Amino acid sequence: METNERLDLVRSDRWIAFDRANIVLNRLTSLMEMPRQSRMPGLMVYGSSGIGKTMIAKRMESLYPTQYEADIGVTQTPILLLQAPPAPDERRFYQHILASIGAPMWGRHTVSELEVRALSHLRDMDLKMIMIDEVHNLLAGSYREQRRFLNMLRFLANDLSASLVVFGVNEAVDAIRGDEQLARRLDEHFLPLWEDDIEFSRLIQTLIAAMQLERGSSLSVHSLRTILGMTGGVTSRVFTMVKALAIDAIETGEERITDEAVQAWQPIWAKHSWSIRRQPVPAF
Ligand SMILES: Nc1ncnc2c1ncn2[C@@H]1O[C@H](COP(=O)(O)OP(=O)(O)OP(=O)(O)O)[C@@H](O)[C@H]1O
Ligand SMILES: [Mg+2]
Repeated sequence: METNERLDLVRSDRWIAFDRANIVLNRLTSLMEMPRQSRMPGLMVYGSSGIGKTMIAKRMESLYPTQYEADIGVTQTPILLLQAPPAPDERRFYQHILASIGAPMWGRHTVSELEVRALSHLRDMDLKMIMIDEVHNLLAGSYREQRRFLNMLRFLANDLSASLVVFGVNEAVDAIRGDEQLARRLDEHFLPLWEDDIEFSRLIQTLIAAMQLERGSSLSVHSLRTILGMTGGVTSRVFTMVKALAIDAIETGEERITDEAVQAWQPIWAKHSWSIRRQPVPAF
């Protein structure tokens, strides 16, 4: 592979499988494989901003693409990934669903008209899982609005006999647990910040291997701690740092990440301005 292609590969936001993310994917896969029942169990995945939730959601969605069954003339979409509206607003949410499945409804409609239409389309899609990212957006509403919105999510999942999977930052947890009926249906999966342990050292190994450098890098425990300290244990920052070190290693011809390079590293991020392009789920 040419140097430029390799640099592009490192810079791209392509999926890199690491253990913790795989564990979540496995949990989601078992939900997908459960036989349909009236009250499908679901999952709440939560953790700090930048921990990797949206990447997992998108990866899961990509593993179950929409399929057209030519012989019976039916399109089947196993998973629908949606972003929660900026505030718990049912109208916007239904409009967003309709737009994202390519059936927008223009003009003025009541919430129930939108709901009827959205549900009828969703039923036709034969969904097995509805994933809602950024579910903490519901905190922007009053207590009553939050309740109504969670109620609607539960109703949606029940009506479609689909698993509901929500992703959000830690602050969202209490709001979701506050809806007892919903909480009973949702298992919880917490993605903690990385710590100084074997899991973190495995993550770094996995990441460096994914950079496809020509020489092997073996970082000292001290370097691992430095990475942890500089990144605060946030996945996105760890990725940004290792990717930048890999780019240097390719450009200088060193072809491996050294302890010296880690020690000399200067952070390039400000809060929420990662050097690597972030691709949020399309907003509306
Ligand atoms: N499995 C992965 N493969 C490749 N890159 C990843 C992976 N997980 C995280 N990243 C990197 O970390 C960045 C942040 O991840 P992500 O957007 O999933 O975080 P998040 O938990 O959804 O954060 P927020 O709560 O702010 O939305 C990604 O844009 C990507 O650069
Ligand atoms: Mg996200």
